[in-house]
Amino acid sequence: MITLEVTSKKLTDNKTHCFGLLLPESFAASALKECEQKLGVKLKIYLDKHEFKGKALQTFSMPVITNKDELYHVVVVGLGKPGKKGISGETYRRAVATLYRKVASLKQESFALVLPAAPIIKLSAQELGQQTAVALEMTSYQFNEYWTEKDRKETVIYDIFLSVPAKDKAAVTRGVKDGQIIARSVNKARQWVNLPPTSLTPPDLANKAKAIAKKTGLKCTIFDEKLMIKMGMGGLAGVGRGSDNESRLVILEYKTSKKNAPTIAFVGKGITFDSGGLSLKPAVHMETMKEDMAGAAAVINTMEALAQLKPDVNVIGVTPLAENLPSGKATKPGDILRFYNGKTAEVKNTDAEGRLVLADALAYTAEKYQPDAMIDIATLTGACAHALGPFYSGLMTQDDDLAETIEEAGEHTGDEVWRLPFSDDYKAAIKSVNADICNIGNNKYMAGATTAGLFLGHFVGDIPWAHLDIAGTAFNVPDRPYYRDGATGVGVRLLTDIAMHWE
Ligand code: BES
Ligand code: MN
Ligand code: ZN
Repeated sequence: MITLEVTSKKLTDNKTHCFGLLLPESFAASALKECEQKLGVKLKIYLDKHEFKGKALQTFSMPVITNKDELYHVVVVGLGKPGKKGISGETYRRAVATLYRKVASLKQESFALVLPAAPIIKLSAQELGQQTAVALEMTSYQFNEYWTEKDRKETVIYDIFLSVPAKDKAAVTRGVKDGQIIARSVNKARQWVNLPPTSLTPPDLANKAKAIAKKTGLKCTIFDEKLMIKMGMGGLAGVGRGSDNESRLVILEYKTSKKNAPTIAFVGKGITFDSGGLSLKPAVHMETMKEDMAGAAAVINTMEALAQLKPDVNVIGVTPLAENLPSGKATKPGDILRFYNGKTAEVKNTDAEGRLVLADALAYTAEKYQPDAMIDIATLTGACAHALGPFYSGLMTQDDDLAETIEEAGEHTGDEVWRLPFSDDYKAAIKSVNADICNIGNNKYMAGATTAGLFLGHFVGDIPWAHLDIAGTAFNVPDRPYYRDGATGVGVRLLTDIAMHWE
């Protein structure tokens, strides 16, 4: 675990041998002064020679050996050209992540960094602290527990000093604290998704949620298979039927101390492994299907973050957990399942299982809690991943206000979303001859992400609701310096931000 220390000391007065600078295009030479004086070198000459201009993510480092034979490093990363409102939060996060990685590659276990003055970044001092912490903590995450070769481990950075003007110290410190809470929840979500699927079955995941509840004081309710069948949750029970690992429905509740506060609900798909069931997936598509509980991981870990951040809104986190496997007991194409709200669906393809487990979770949440809004998050369709690629989650809703809230949170946090068509016209795609609806869309209508979302719409009643499809964004997202191969923890930053700014 890294410690982040906010100080009003000069950069070079911090107890480290590595100094980091984040510099915009056409930066002032005075930004280099402290390092130049401390190390007795003319950094500017080196930077010019290497054509360091401060372009976004341009990186430069220089070792310096002092006359006392001490080795220091200076690492400089560009922030690019400030736009009208300054450098964007996302550019800033990437620059911080790039700096972290460079320092680690230099085998330094600590470094100090000057936070750029607020005016060139689009953020307040507190937000600057928060985003700095988020970027550093996220970059530090690595799934390496299964590596056994000693020299494979990357340098771990233990201490990071953030030098800020004295007047900003309190605000930045507050932001850093919140950022650490958020990023640790992001990293925990990543860890759960990265775990091998046999090491994280629905009961395992439910136990993790229970442990979080115990630690943080959240209320936790868990339904086992017997109970969900008794309650009429035929979708969730139907999907888990082929597996020897039992299904679970987990509900976490955060209650604000504020009187008469609204209530929002987050519902996350938790298929701990998706083989497709009897409609078995081809091997290449199955390779990463441990990621199919990324929605549940996001919701449960968001709840843990919120228990610490304490927003002025009540939050319910609901996760239907099951494993989708073929067996002699598995649900078959042609089977008809009956959900908690009484509706029925014909299962034409057992690989369209996410909507079946979410249907029960949404119907139950809507009826039991009558929340002011519901947002579900799910690795739901390959179609969404194909349409949007790895950088935007699909956002589907008929509620423009809710869409705006989510889009703003996306831009602010870096968990970005892109709205997809969601008009009633597409509903015809999931008509069924034998039941109320069918679990796959008629080919004529294409738009697989939209038709999957509209299936869910049958289970939300009149509660304002939005659906997030994270099939493309949950796993193996390239080119983001704060991510690595594997899980991204997408959704934790987004949902946390939505709750923190709920009105
Ligand atoms: N979990 C998958 C969707 C998915 C695909 C997530 C790729 C992450 C990456 C989902 O359960 C699924 O199998 N969807 C099918 C639906 C189809 C049968 C209508 C799909 O997208 O192919
Ligand atoms: Mn599937
Ligand atoms: Zn799935």
